[in-house]
Amino acid sequence: MNPRKITPGSLRAMKGGERIAALTAYDYAMTQWLDATGVPLLLVGDSVGMVVLGYPDTTHVTMAEMEHHVRSAARARPRALLAADLPFNSCLTVTAALENTLRLLAAGAEAVKAEGGRNILPQVRAIISAGIPFLGHLGMLPQNVVAEGGYRVKGKTPQERADLMADAVALADAGAFGIVLELVTPPVAREITAKIPIPTIGIGSGPDCDGEILVTTDLLGTSPGAVPRHVKKHWHFAEQMRAAVVEWKEGVLHPGR
Ligand code: KIV
Repeated sequence: MNPRKITPGSLRAMKGGERIAALTAYDYAMTQWLDATGVPLLLVGDSVGMVVLGYPDTTHVTMAEMEHHVRSAARARPRALLAADLPFNSCLTVTAALENTLRLLAAGAEAVKAEGGRNILPQVRAIISAGIPFLGHLGMLPQNVVAEGGYRVKGKTPQERADLMADAVALADAGAFGIVLELVTPPVAREITAKIPIPTIGIGSGPDCDGEILVTTDLLGTSPGAVPRHVKKHWHFAEQMRAAVVEWKEGVLHPGR
C-alpha cells in the first residue's frame, strides 16, 4: 500500500490539526485528477443522481448505480480515502445496511456514509462492528427532501440543536471516524465540533467545522442546476466547455478560416 495512503485513522487524527478539504468524485478520470490535488477524502456521493444522472433529487439513486460509480472511481486507486454513500432506503434494517455496505466495499469503497443519527444507530453499530469505517451525515439530509418538502437549514430551534448534538455524540460513541454536517447553523456546528472527538466536515455549516466538503461540480460550475448559496466561489467550466466546443465546431464547418 502507498505509505501515504489516507486511512480513516489518519483522517480522524486530523481533528484539531490541518483542516480536511473533501470533495465528491463520480468516476475514474475525476477521481484521478482530484486525487492529484492531495485532498484526503473523496466521496462517491449520491449527489451523482442529481449532477450526473439527471434525477431531481437523491431519492432516485439505486444501489446498482452507486456500485457502478464506485467501481469506476475505485479504479483510480486514489491515495485519498474513498468513501461511498449508502443511497435512499438502502439501510432500513440492520441486514440491509450490512448487505448494501458489503456491496459498496466489493465495488471498491473504503468507507461508507449514511444519513441519520440515533434513528439508524443499530445499522451504524452493525457496520462498525463488522470492521467497516463509517462516516456520519447529520443536519439537512438530502434523502429526506421529499418527506420534508425542501432543503432547510437545521439547528435553528433548541429542539433541533439538542437533537443534532445527541445524534453527533451517538455516532461518535458508536465509532464513526467523522461526521458530515450539512446546512447546520454555524453556532450549532461549532458547538458539535467542540464537543465530539472526531472531525466534523461541514457543507454550508459555517467556518468552524474541522473541514469542508463540496459537490465538485458545484465548485467547478458544471452542475446542471443552480449553484447552492453555500458555495462561496465557484468557477464557470460549463461555459468554457461550451466555448471550446463551439470553436471546434466552427473549425469543422469552415475549415479554411
Ligand atoms: O452526496 C453527496 O454529495 C453528499 C455531500 C454533499 C456531503 O452527501
